[in-house]
Amino acid sequence: MNHPSEIQLSLTESAGLNTEAMPVSLYTDPAQYEIERERVFRRAWLKVGRVEQIPNRGDFFVKDIAVLKASVIIAHSEDGKIRAFHNVCAHRANIVEHRSRGNARRFVCRYHSWGYNNAGELAHVPDEPGFFHLNKKKCGLTPVSLDIWEGWIFINMAPEPEVSLKAFLGPIGDALAGIEYPSPEHALVLRGEFRANWKVVAENFSEAYHISSIHPKTLGPIYAGPLNPFSRPISANVHGAHRTMSTWLNPAAAPFANAKFAQWLFTADHSVTGTRKEGQTNPLIEHEAINPKKSELWASDVNWFFPNWHMQISANQFWTHEFWPTSASSTIWEARFYYKKAETVRERLQREHFTSHITDTMLEDLGNIESMQRGMESGAKSFVQFNESEILCRHGLEQVVKWSAATTVKDALG
Ligand code: FES
Ligand SMILES: [Fe+2]
Repeated sequence: MNHPSEIQLSLTESAGLNTEAMPVSLYTDPAQYEIERERVFRRAWLKVGRVEQIPNRGDFFVKDIAVLKASVIIAHSEDGKIRAFHNVCAHRANIVEHRSRGNARRFVCRYHSWGYNNAGELAHVPDEPGFFHLNKKKCGLTPVSLDIWEGWIFINMAPEPEVSLKAFLGPIGDALAGIEYPSPEHALVLRGEFRANWKVVAENFSEAYHISSIHPKTLGPIYAGPLNPFSRPISANVHGAHRTMSTWLNPAAAPFANAKFAQWLFTADHSVTGTRKEGQTNPLIEHEAINPKKSELWASDVNWFFPNWHMQISANQFWTHEFWPTSASSTIWEARFYYKKAETVRERLQREHFTSHITDTMLEDLGNIESMQRGMESGAKSFVQFNESEILCRHGLEQVVKWSAATTVKDALG
């Protein structure tokens, strides 16, 4: 077929990726999962939150990272600095903080009440004279490396990270700098655990090829149309370990603005799929790296930061997905849709409408994710095939293979 001129062809080859089928064992082999724990998740910088989650001194949240069997406190300390620590007591290694978030001057281990200040220093030991050779200065909470890029909080679980966050992000960090995120302090969070490998879950949100097939009534009419029936992307770029893609908007989708289902997508102030109004401008649309081809027929961008974080952007909104492995074949998926807090009853109802529809749409995805994992584990197929439109999936998998083999992070990034 003739693709419209907006569509960039030969994405895979022009990005320098291979075009071969890829092994199913990457999603099913327990040995591969063990390698990914140490070589991917313990060495990569992992996005765990945004600064707006902990705006005040004493604010904290806890991130449990099952793939590394770790629990981490991210705290806004009294001195204004944001720090991360292992959530593990220096007395006899109990978990210290059991709340998922809050505000605390002290983290007190409930077992024997050792207390730590929110800079992680050991501040209180009951019956201190009863200990032998106790050096309180050496008994703080064990620090975890933390750095912040554009308001996004990253941690690195290596005892000493081999590269800085800046070096890890490389060109994607520069390209996506300076974005003015609308309403970053207010997110609708969707969360669930699914019986599928984390890469299967991440890949679902990284390609539009499935949209006309499994979302025919919801997303299909927006992302596909007679001009582009299989939702070929407008463009895709790989940036070191990371990757971006711009999805196409069906110009004939506008009439759906009056249809019932489309209200949640087309509500003027928080549409999800790039429903730019004629003449509309805002800092998101104008940013150079967003919709980099500045196509008129642009729906949204997928920015997939290695290994497990997506930041997606449309003309009016941004949203994120995280994919946290809990085993070789199970994953916690967390999505955050950011939009301004409802100020009127009408806006509140729009949010509820949006929530119920986005949940239904996600369920269309998630049922297929679990059955795909079952099919992979059956052993019937040794390889999976990737279409041009699935370039981000291919690049993601190639990077996992690269990091799994590389003895140093510099080699993995090289
Ligand atoms: S294990 Fe924490 S106070 Fe004893
Ligand atoms: Fe989908």
